[in-house]
Amino acid sequence: MALFKKSPGKVRLLVLGTGGMAQAHATAFAKDPRVELVGTVDVMPGRAAEFAKKFGIKKHFTDLDKAIKWGQFDAATNVTPDSIHYPTTMKLLAAKKHVLCEKPLAENFKLANEMATAAEKAKVINMVNLTYRAVAGLQKAKQIIASGEIGEVRHVEASYRQSWLVGNHWGAWDKLPMWLWRLSEKHGSKGVLGDVGIHILDFTTYAIGMMPTNLQARLKTFHKAPGDKIGEYVLDANDSASMIVEFQNGAQGVIHASRFMTGYGNTLRLNVFGTKGGLEIQNDHDLTTLRVCSGEDVHTQAWRDIVKTEAEPANYLKFIDAIVSGKNGDPSFRRAADLQKILDACFTEEASKAVKL
Ligand SMILES: NC(=O)c1ccc[n+]([C@@H]2O[C@H](COP(=O)([O-])OP(=O)(O)OC[C@H]3O[C@@H](n4cnc5c(N)ncnc54)[C@H](O)[C@@H]3O)[C@@H](O)[C@H]2O)c1
Repeated sequence: MALFKKSPGKVRLLVLGTGGMAQAHATAFAKDPRVELVGTVDVMPGRAAEFAKKFGIKKHFTDLDKAIKWGQFDAATNVTPDSIHYPTTMKLLAAKKHVLCEKPLAENFKLANEMATAAEKAKVINMVNLTYRAVAGLQKAKQIIASGEIGEVRHVEASYRQSWLVGNHWGAWDKLPMWLWRLSEKHGSKGVLGDVGIHILDFTTYAIGMMPTNLQARLKTFHKAPGDKIGEYVLDANDSASMIVEFQNGAQGVIHASRFMTGYGNTLRLNVFGTKGGLEIQNDHDLTTLRVCSGEDVHTQAWRDIVKTEAEPANYLKFIDAIVSGKNGDPSFRRAADLQKILDACFTEEASKAVKL
């Protein structure tokens, strides 16, 4: 691992993008006494100024170039839409700023790999906000699987469940830009696969400690509006994504995500079945349950709840830890690029089309 430049005083942070998720970033960073929010950027007129007022930030810009020219910051948190991550992060890296970037890192592996390589060359801290690493129980689940308690992994079933295309709990998807860009490849989205499929892919492969070696995938975009278009947004991004994967030890897995999973607002579920037992972890907003069926319980299908679990610190905290210590944190740009390779493979595989029955 390269030696990164440590931060001597408070970490001066720039918030890039001031939409929905930026509120969570700024709120979390503002609580960290090691951080000073010094600037913010948004291309939408008035947005950065309003955000700056809300979070007590002195400087606001409508253009990242102007913020970089000003330069009085050490690190940036990139909370722009997916297609904007690459061009803006590359500029920040060229200016030698540490970057926490939202997921997915880029639109494809080629760009994500370029970003990871540029960050490594610049010797700056580079992390990606794969939020669910902080789920209470994930570390314990990983530990149980690694300990061999459920034996050798044979079968995995994982899903990321949302329903904002059915319910109005997150607002009107057909009116709000923050949902419409997520439905449009032309606006840089990789659909449900890139939006939350990447989370469940990271969650699963982190827990079991293995990456897929091959896969089959199906991506489906459903008809949702006349002409499949709303205003400037062409609704061409996938709404449902499924993959069948084989892992490094030969185990098989089904990983899927959809925005049509009624009854689930925002739920991640992972089942791992081994030669000696099974494990299930589910995260529903802030509520996590972890249970195991192992030992003598395999004969009666009894599940044991694991209640003593510890959450990892959120990526915001880990990013600042990394800047302060000078040692890069996980998940890094490189990890995100590795995941992006799997997303790319889903698009390539989907293009091969299923056998017609
Ligand atoms: N980690 C998570 O759990 C999680 C959750 C939600 C969203 N996200 C990610 O966060 C990112 C932002 O999502 P959101 O829901 O906040 O979107 P959003 O549309 O609400 O906000 C994006 C903001 O970025 C601004 N913007 C666009 N181009 C810009 C540029 N060149 N420079 C500066 N600002 C620019 C927009 O004007 C908008 O205000 C996405 O990549 C999304 O995938 C992650």
